[in-house]
Amino acid sequence: MDKPVALITGASSGIGTAFAWKLAARGYNLILLARRADRLQTLAGELPVAVETLQADLSTEAGIAGAERAIHERPRLDLLVNNAGFGTLRRFWEAPVEGQTRMHELHVMAIMRLTHAALARMVPYGRGGIINVSSVAAFGQSPGNVSYCATKAWINSFTEGLAIELANANSPVKVQALCPGFTATEFHETLGLITGDSTGGIPRFLWTEADDVVNASLHGFDRGKVIVIPGWKYKTVATVMKHLPWSIRRRASRPGGSRI
Ligand SMILES: NC(=O)c1ccc[n+]([C@@H]2O[C@H](COP(=O)([O-])OP(=O)(O)OC[C@H]3O[C@@H](n4cnc5c(N)ncnc54)[C@H](OP(=O)(O)O)[C@@H]3O)[C@@H](O)[C@H]2O)c1
Repeated sequence: MDKPVALITGASSGIGTAFAWKLAARGYNLILLARRADRLQTLAGELPVAVETLQADLSTEAGIAGAERAIHERPRLDLLVNNAGFGTLRRFWEAPVEGQTRMHELHVMAIMRLTHAALARMVPYGRGGIINVSSVAAFGQSPGNVSYCATKAWINSFTEGLAIELANANSPVKVQALCPGFTATEFHETLGLITGDSTGGIPRFLWTEADDVVNASLHGFDRGKVIVIPGWKYKTVATVMKHLPWSIRRRASRPGGSRI
């Protein structure tokens, strides 16, 4: 039988690159998507499996449509990892609306459309899965992080809804929302929060490695877990955030709060 195929968005760095290595080790052939084609090609040359690269900006209509086409045209797709994402700084009304729009396109519209394209193939085949990379930020709100928290909360709600719908249709296709905490990738540097070896004031014990995040995701995926929060510290954070009364959450919030 042919090897399984996984499409990973945001594969040019961080958690996406870690997914590429872990899925290659599990025997998947890969389709790697991001804007930086040079990075994807270098990674493709290092991975020990068949790799296709796809340069696309998923915050644009053309990028999303190109990725949808790739899903429709390929002979098989077993796993879609919707991982591409970014953060912004500043209060919602002070930050340029363009960045907020791009974030909603990437975290919401791209995930919705690629998931639709993938499930339309996977459900009739009766196999496959989707991992949507969310964040522990999905469980709360913080100043300067409004659209990020809101779009990640949408990812969790969307994924939980799909899990119910798939179970209701007796489909074996699995879905997961992966909710990491602070992870050592290029995310915070791109955001402008840290430079070089600094941790931007975020305590070292709170950082997780991208490999550990992906191990937790795939371990949870094998067991059909819908919400995966890597590490006991962040499981605790998410539980507290979910149950904290609104009045306390509002008082406890500080400008420039969590960026995860
Ligand atoms: N790092 C953390 O602390 C943390 C915590 C919780 C959740 N997350 C989530 O984890 C996911 C991966 O982030 P990361 O930490 O691995 O950060 P990263 O190292 O900055 O990787 C982000 C990836 O997304 C891609 N990307 C960004 N905008 C894109 C666009 N418009 N179109 C296509 N690809 C795009 C980037 O590739 P190109 O620039 O080449 O396009 C890159 O491959 C994100 O969804 C993020 O929200 C991260």
